[in-house]
Amino acid sequence: MRKPVIAVDGFSSTGKSSISKIIAKNLNLVHLDTGSLYRALTYYALKNCLNSNKEIDLNLLFKDFPKIEITFKEENNELKLYLNGEKMSQKIRQLKVNNHVSFIAKQPEVRDFLLDLQRNIAKKGGVIMDGRDIGTFILPHADFKFFLTASVEERSKRRLKELQNSGIETDEKTVRENLIKRDKIDSERETSPLKQAEDAILIDNTFLTKEETIALILTYIN
Ligand code: DC
Repeated sequence: MRKPVIAVDGFSSTGKSSISKIIAKNLNLVHLDTGSLYRALTYYALKNCLNSNKEIDLNLLFKDFPKIEITFKEENNELKLYLNGEKMSQKIRQLKVNNHVSFIAKQPEVRDFLLDLQRNIAKKGGVIMDGRDIGTFILPHADFKFFLTASVEERSKRRLKELQNSGIETDEKTVRENLIKRDKIDSERETSPLKQAEDAILIDNTFLTKEETIALILTYIN
């Protein structure tokens, strides 16, 4: 029997990735956090494509596309991302990457560059992908689509905790401003903006724990 293709989209810090990761283990699927693709390109651009004012020069990034090879290795139901052979793990979670990633993700050239890569992963089935445009654009025929949301207050709290746990010093105001700004850019961009697919199941998890959200999603799938 063909294993399902599941799309999980939604706002930042609604737990999309950590929830999808557990569902992948539970149903023996592979999980791809598509945000890591945009983060990896942002990390690359911050390292290699700056102009004399130390700002990202998009033309330098686009010119480098043929030189950028993105590959994956499966580890415990997770597709781990490598850019030109370098593992992209914690380094793509830095604040600097957070602050630039929506700008990179809104470029049509960037979205186009990452399109086939994402679709090819889902071809054989047995995958859960989380992001912003998976149900609307990348995998419009996914077997299940979920759209996660939660209040800004709750999401800022979760994000702050996550950053503090990984040793990053920041405060709730900074985190909240960053979240609001990213959501705005992600929702208002012209190419595949963040929006709920018509056939997606909406889950507001403001008052749900991670475990409760997972249980709810599994109820729909099973
Ligand atoms: O989920 P995340 O915070 O790691 O996503 C990082 C950025 O990438 C965020 O600004 C939204 C963008 N993104 C996107 O535009 N499309 C996706 N499928 C996944 C992420």
